[in-house]
Amino acid sequence: MITVSDLCHEFRIGKKGKERVVPVLHHINLHVERGEIVTVVGRSGSGKSTLLNLVSGYIRPTAGQLVIDGRNVTKLSEGEWADFRLEKFGFIFQSFQLIPSMTAFENVELPLVLKGMEVGERRRRTEAMLKRVGLDPYAGHYPGELSGGQQQRVSIARALIVNPPIILADEPTGSLDTENEQSLLDFIRELNREQGITFLIITHDEQVASIGHRKVVIQDGRLVDSLSLVKGGLR
Ligand SMILES: Nc1ncnc2c1ncn2[C@@H]1O[C@H](COP(=O)(O)OP(=O)(O)O)[C@@H](O)[C@H]1O
Ligand SMILES: [Mg+2]
Repeated sequence: MITVSDLCHEFRIGKKGKERVVPVLHHINLHVERGEIVTVVGRSGSGKSTLLNLVSGYIRPTAGQLVIDGRNVTKLSEGEWADFRLEKFGFIFQSFQLIPSMTAFENVELPLVLKGMEVGERRRRTEAMLKRVGLDPYAGHYPGELSGGQQQRVSIARALIVNPPIILADEPTGSLDTENEQSLLDFIRELNREQGITFLIITHDEQVASIGHRKVVIQDGRLVDSLSLVKGGLR
């Protein structure tokens, strides 16, 4: 589902002419099968978020190739990436990334607006999705009026609303208490089992890292280990 081949990334910082090159990722090879949950674990600064930003097309690799759902996306334009992203990915972030001036309903509905879906269909789907994550009573609340766990559920509803085949998560439990963390991890497993959604989850938390089928370890921008966590491969 996701194939990263020999991917390298360096940032250029400083003024033009006096730029300094900061190599961050070195020859990353990673394959995530359809229906697999893969976690990427590593210390802060090891390059995890950069890897996720490359996979989601927010930055372009310095070298290497990226194939997602059979399509070579390494050289897509910004516009092509925007469409591709809406079709293939749902995102879950540590900081939820909700729009504070929009209600829970409007936040969840937004990807459908971007897709140009007709208003009646959009509303029906959004209502159903809010119900699914148990937030229908909070549809009219703004993010600032919701708890951390509720905000995370809004962000998950927003990620799921387009039925994406892949969910990318960057430190999804980083702002949650233990109880909400456990319920999010349970929900991720359920979505994977029941809908076959593929997950790539970045974390520095060893417990979160152990929920998937496979865990890869990143150290100073290099993948140094890959551990299968299910005996006999995928169910
Ligand atoms: N936009 C950027 N410009 C320059 N350096 C960056 C940028 N983003 C990240 N870095 C550097 O790349 C390295 C990896 O960062 P990041 O991918 O955020 O790590 P992690 O998510 O594992 O904590 C760090 O040294 C960070 O300072
Ligand atoms: Mg990070």
